[in-house]
Amino acid sequence: MKKKIINKIYEDTSWDFRTEDTKTTSQGIHNYPAMMIPQIARRLIELYAPKKGGILLDPFCGSGSSLVEARLQGLNSYGVDINPLARLIAKVKSALIEPELLDEYIKKVKSEVINAEFNNGFNLSKIEIPKFNGLEFWFKKDVIKRLQLIKSIILKISNNSPDIKDFLLVTFSHTVRDCSNTRNGEFKLYRMPEEKLLNYSPDVYKRFIGKLEYNYEAIKNFYTECKKIKNYNALWVKILDEDTRKKISIPDESVDIILTSPPYGDSRTTVAYGQYTKLSSEWLGLNNNKKDIDKISLGGQIVNSLENQLGSESLNISLKHIAEQDEKRAREVLSFYIDLDKCLAEIKRVMKPKGYICMVVGNRTVKGIQIPTDKVLVEISNKHGILHKETVIRNIPNKRMPSKNSPTNVKGKLSSTMVKEYIVILMNQ
Ligand SMILES: C[S@@+](CC[C@H](N)C(=O)[O-])C[C@H]1O[C@@H](n2cnc3c(N)ncnc32)[C@H](O)[C@@H]1O
Repeated sequence: MKKKIINKIYEDTSWDFRTEDTKTTSQGIHNYPAMMIPQIARRLIELYAPKKGGILLDPFCGSGSSLVEARLQGLNSYGVDINPLARLIAKVKSALIEPELLDEYIKKVKSEVINAEFNNGFNLSKIEIPKFNGLEFWFKKDVIKRLQLIKSIILKISNNSPDIKDFLLVTFSHTVRDCSNTRNGEFKLYRMPEEKLLNYSPDVYKRFIGKLEYNYEAIKNFYTECKKIKNYNALWVKILDEDTRKKISIPDESVDIILTSPPYGDSRTTVAYGQYTKLSSEWLGLNNNKKDIDKISLGGQIVNSLENQLGSESLNISLKHIAEQDEKRAREVLSFYIDLDKCLAEIKRVMKPKGYICMVVGNRTVKGIQIPTDKVLVEISNKHGILHKETVIRNIPNKRMPSKNSPTNVKGKLSSTMVKEYIVILMNQ
């Protein structure tokens, strides 16, 4: 139901999708924090993408939910993300992998894993385990060996088939997280309590095979749906290992629509994407350059002063109130918006005139002050010649976002965070 419209902002519960399945086609193959639900991406594409197709860009693509929906609606797409595991998941979710071929490989992997389960030909004591800090803190010894065995089977069987190998590695990554000593349902890295760990003995092979079967059906379903699209074979998805604050490898004025959910704030106090993906990335060797993802994420580097040229009155008011309590926290908050401003400049460069920019944002609370990111975004965008069309407020019905966080940064002191999301629609001039 639509509620009263004030300054082009209104609540509309038809965007809640309260009872819908959010794991349609390939969307559920791997968890990722703050995923965009497919129904929102789908509806925004229907409303704001050109009817004849075109190019969609998600400049913070994460696990690629918007890229999946782009392909399903006949659009080419670019995804950009600084997190290597996110890019791998996005690639697999949006790729066209031939189900029959996939099935052949899955059968081979399954049979080797099942053989291993009965120790037929494999000696667990001889398995060479990976080396990274905290390995034995985050995984039990037997789990480490079994995971390594699965990984070696995957590499042996699929080394010459890159798409299949990526699919298997994404499934493996999910299993790593699932069989680790981390507490369930947390985005940050917290270990299970000792007493729980004592009796914790996950069946690694069973969990991997179960996930393999689930993911196979998901990818097959995606493939079947994609085939219904005219010219489905000619469509492309390009996933870029780049930083949206800098110049990205996309030509000027080439993008028809932007569809994205940027981070909610700096990683330290909101969602720590780097922490969430750390263990899987170590297992997959994706942390080779040893960059701390959370430090290179938006707002990862704190600015020295509260002075800024962002031109957002709403932001300046919030910063003033936060600074009255804690000046450093205010600078941390500002760092995020300064980075967002750099991304908007890049978005402006690649966008076609009159193209739509759809951004799903959350309004976080810092020191008891709620920062109206939806309004800040509109005000900063104005500076770039990107104008506000409307903002829809929706309820977040499930537990996709943490409902509590630690805005004061005092351990254990939690307060409620966002239960609403803002779908901000902007148009390039
Ligand atoms: C809210 S998540 C996106 C989730 C995504 N919509 C999905 O469905 O999985 C925001 C993403 O922004 C990425 N990110 C943060 N800073 C970035 C930057 N400077 N350039 C590109 N991506 C960045 C993070 O790694 C994270 O994956």
